[in-house]
Amino acid sequence: MALLPILRYPDPRLHTRAAPVLKVDDSIRKLVADMAETMYEAPGIGLAATQVNVHQRVVVIDVSEDNSALLALVNPEIISRSGEQVCEEGCLSVPGIYDKVTRAEQVRVRALNQKGETFELDAEGLLAVCIQHELDHLDGKVFVEYLSKLKQTRIKDKLAKKARITA
Ligand code: NI
Repeated sequence: MALLPILRYPDPRLHTRAAPVLKVDDSIRKLVADMAETMYEAPGIGLAATQVNVHQRVVVIDVSEDNSALLALVNPEIISRSGEQVCEEGCLSVPGIYDKVTRAEQVRVRALNQKGETFELDAEGLLAVCIQHELDHLDGKVFVEYLSKLKQTRIKDKLAKKARITA
């Protein structure tokens, strides 16, 4: 396994739309393993392949307290959604920034697992938020795009300043 570098907003590569995985093979399973290691190390509760500059539709999620519930979704699609919830979100690609986003309370997702088998999953609460956030990444969308233009400009300025200090 290997730790993968995470793209930082406003890197334009974060706005790439990921392509569907054609075959779940060993290279995809290695990507999942590397992404999981990168997510746990960060630490975070979700990571999309887009964030590690791999533009294929793969996400890993683990919302458990003890890293015991790794969920790998290949070619995930939300097939139904209901309700509404507001959650304070953060993102490994937007370090130090947290803000409220309104999303569906429940979602049903269909995806392939690491064996290439189709499965469906009902999620609510934090897991539902995380699934929606990660699937947005695969479509090139970062959560800050739900915020006002003014807030987005402030976030870009803040991260640019931080990048200069750490560079
Ligand atoms: Ni994110």
